[in-house]
Amino acid sequence: MQILTDPRTLQQTCLRWRADGQHTVLVPTMGYYHSGHESLISYARSVGDKVVVSLFVNPTQFGPGEDLAAYPRDLERDAALAEANGADILFTPQPADMFPAGHATWIEVPSLAGTLCGVSRPTHFRGVCTVVMKLFQLAMPRTAVFGQKDWQQLAIIRRMARDLNVPVDVVGRPIVREQDGLAMSSRNIYLSTEERAQAPNIHHGLALGRALVQGGERDAAAVAEGMRRYWRENLPLAQEDYISIVHPETLEPLARITDAALCAVAFRLGKARLIDNMLLAGE
Ligand code: PAJ
Repeated sequence: MQILTDPRTLQQTCLRWRADGQHTVLVPTMGYYHSGHESLISYARSVGDKVVVSLFVNPTQFGPGEDLAAYPRDLERDAALAEANGADILFTPQPADMFPAGHATWIEVPSLAGTLCGVSRPTHFRGVCTVVMKLFQLAMPRTAVFGQKDWQQLAIIRRMARDLNVPVDVVGRPIVREQDGLAMSSRNIYLSTEERAQAPNIHHGLALGRALVQGGERDAAAVAEGMRRYWRENLPLAQEDYISIVHPETLEPLARITDAALCAVAFRLGKARLIDNMLLAGE
């Protein structure tokens, strides 16, 4: 595996690969790898000829007062894991090389970015879209792989690719969880022992919501209320940021649960802000 830091070197390498007819798969990340990241890299390995993993803690997607400076980093361990899972290139640029002084172009998908996490993180998704589009231009992948853990991010990137005719197949992969159900996240290390003990109940509350729907409940407010009651009892250390039942693609709130419904949640638990989601209906 090669470690590259210079955007132009990455682009030249990937241009050559594309001219040679190679199928490049891109896995964008911010590092501090867990099994969720590893699952994306090994999936990329299984479908592509060449695997590019980017590791860039993108400053433009962090708001003021968020955890940019504290975001956990361990380049040596990440490089070993990327290589073990089959990466050909680990791309670790410096912020000044990705966003040099004078950078002025931004990509926004307001209809999808103004809801859910976008309410408390109003500039987050324009930072995500812009950096992902830049990574697409640098790596020129035929496929890019993202986790369903960040469902809204995946929906927004899909829409961006569709709206801008980007020739990249955006693939979403399942959420990887700890044995007790907690969705893996680089931010789980912020949790105290007590918070960590309650955190799996985020997942268990979502599963309760799905069971209510499978039992015939179709009224989204009733399902949300059932989950909220569970979390009030079993997640007392957490503060709700949002609990929303939405259409999985448009992210519009649903009143009735018919063919496709996603429950997406965000909680503040101590220093961490944790997100999770589950399809309540549909695949
Ligand atoms: P990061 O949080 O490092 O996540 C990188 C990728 O791993 C994302 O596609 C995310 O959805 C996926 N992922 C995280 N936890 C997962 C889990 N438990 N199971 C499966 N996949 C999981 O998301 C970002 O970085 C950034 O916003 C990025 C897309 C790199 C743009 O900067």
